[in-house]
Amino acid sequence: MKEKLKELEINSVGDISSAPDSVTLNDIRVKYLGKKGLLTGILSGLGSLPPEERREMGALANTLKTSIEGAISAKGAELKDSELKTALEKDRIDITLPGRASSKGTIHPLTRGMQEVIDIFTGMGFSVEEGPEIESDYYNFEALNIPKDHPARDMQDTFYITEETILRTHTSPVQIHTMEKVQPPVMSIAPGKVYRCDADITHSPMFHQVEGFMVDKDITFGHLQGVLHTFIQTFFGEGTKVRFRPSFFPFTEPSAEVDISCLICGGVGCRVCSGTGWLEVLGSGMIDPEVFKAVGYDPEVWSGFAFGVGIERLVMLKYRINDIRLLFENDTRFLTKF
Ligand code: DAH
Repeated sequence: MKEKLKELEINSVGDISSAPDSVTLNDIRVKYLGKKGLLTGILSGLGSLPPEERREMGALANTLKTSIEGAISAKGAELKDSELKTALEKDRIDITLPGRASSKGTIHPLTRGMQEVIDIFTGMGFSVEEGPEIESDYYNFEALNIPKDHPARDMQDTFYITEETILRTHTSPVQIHTMEKVQPPVMSIAPGKVYRCDADITHSPMFHQVEGFMVDKDITFGHLQGVLHTFIQTFFGEGTKVRFRPSFFPFTEPSAEVDISCLICGGVGCRVCSGTGWLEVLGSGMIDPEVFKAVGYDPEVWSGFAFGVGIERLVMLKYRINDIRLLFENDTRFLTKF
C-alpha cells in the first residue's frame, strides 16, 4: 500500500507539473481526486486494513491528498496567469491603425433646387403656403376653371383615389386654398409634391412643383414678367434670356409659357434645344376671372398673375441631367457630385 501511495505521489507530481493548460489540469484533478479517482480509490479501501496499518496509511494518504490539492491549485494559478497573458497578447488592439472614415451625407440636388427657388421668391417678398397632396376634384380642377369633361383634364394623367378624391396633379390648388383663406393683396408660393401617371426619362409619377401667385389692384402682365425674369436670372445666372410664348391654361388668361435661352448653346441652336435656341421652363399667366369668382374675389377690383414651375426640370436643366430617374435612384456616386 505504501509503495502504491509513493508511486501515486511521483506520478501525480509529474502529471501536474507537465499540464499544458487548465483543461488538462482539471482532467488530472479528476484522475486522482475525482469520485472514481486513484487516490479516492485507495482511501475507500482503507476500511479493509487491520487497525494499525489503517491509521498509518490513512495519515499518509491524507497528507498526499492535501499535497496533490495544493500542487493543483498552485499550478492552476500559474496556468491561468499565462493563459491571460496569451489572450491579451493575441487580442491586442493596434491603436496605430488609421480609423475608418465615416461617409458624409450631401444635400439632394432636388432639395437644393427646391430651397434655391424658395429662397429667391421669399427674397422678393412671397410667403410660403402648403396644401394637401390628397386633393379633391374641386380644388385640383373645378375651382381652377377645369370643369368635368374639359379636354384640359387630358393634359394631366390623374391618379384617382375615388371619383372625387385624387392625388393632386399640380400645386395650383394651393392657390385656391390660400385665396379662400386670405383677402388680397396676397403674394405667396406653394412648394410641394405632385403626382401624374406618367414615367419615362423626363417624367416621374411623383415630382415637385412650386406654384406662385400675386393678387392686388392693378397687377399687370408686366409684374409677371418682372418677377419671373428676376427669378430666372437669379436661378440660371445673369445673362440668361427669357421669352414669353403665348399658350393656354384654363386658370389663366392670357397664358404664357416661359422659355430661357439654351444653357448649352446660348441660343444658337443645338441638340439639347432641338435647334430652337430655347428651353421651356414654366407655365404662367394672368389669373382667370373664373378663378377669382370661385374664391369670392371681385375680378373687377382685383387682378393677379400665377405661375407653376417643375423643380425636376429646373434641376435637370441647371445641372445638365438627361434622365430624371437619376434623381430618384439615390446612387451616391451621382448624389455626391452636387
Ligand atoms: N399647373 C400647371 C401645370 O402643372 C402649371 C401652371 C401653368 C401653373 C400656368 C400656373 C400657371 O399657375 O399660371 O402644368
